Amino acid sequence: MTRASQTDLPAILKLQRLAFDSEAVSVGDLTIPPLTQTLEEIEAEFELRLFLKLEESGNLVASVRGHKDEVGWAHVGRLMVHPTRQGEGLGSNLMHEIEHELGPCRGFKIFTSAASTGNIRLYERLGYCVFAREKVGALEMVFLTKEGDEHESFDD
Ligand SMILES: CC(C)(COP(=O)(O)OP(=O)(O)OC[C@H]1O[C@@H](n2cnc3c(N)ncnc32)[C@H](O)[C@@H]1OP(=O)(O)O)[C@@H](O)C(=O)NCCC(=O)NCCS
Repeated sequence: MTRASQTDLPAILKLQRLAFDSEAVSVGDLTIPPLTQTLEEIEAEFELRLFLKLEESGNLVASVRGHKDEVGWAHVGRLMVHPTRQGEGLGSNLMHEIEHELGPCRGFKIFTSAASTGNIRLYERLGYCVFAREKVGALEMVFLTKEGDEHESFDD
């Protein structure tokens, strides 16, 4: 697992469309942001967030991204694993890695749709708790949080 560079963005966008297709079908909305994001938009996002990638034999298999805000919360998102490689622990490993890369911090935040019970189960297993539910357009979203390491300093 390594940090992605700008040249990885087309492959990450391709994987994103592939991985989130099932999510779009399960929530009944083929226009969810991961499916409509353009190359230009992901390039702009890359300026603000840390992107991690996992490659095997030169092929992108998984990715995740996140950033730490000005009050110390780490926001994690767009966790994705190639559909043929899901259920092997890669998503969990990526979550551990991005938490490590973004820490030390006050805590971590992530969201998913309420219909994605598998995702919620995964995040809860990783120590996240649901703290809010909110309607975003026609979809109900679930917001989860996990405490950061309070023993580490914030001034890095
Ligand atoms: C969610 C996702 C990243 C999990 O990655 P993964 O490598 O399959 O996850 P792990 O193997 O570490 O953990 C498996 C757990 O993930 C969850 N999960 C969610 N969708 C899954 C899927 N399609 N296949 C397998 N596990 C899935 C389940 O909780 C599963 O645990 P279970 O066996 O108790 O059901 C991956 O399924 C994916 O890319 N999904 C599509 C994109 C998406 O919804 N991303 C999350 C956005 S918030």
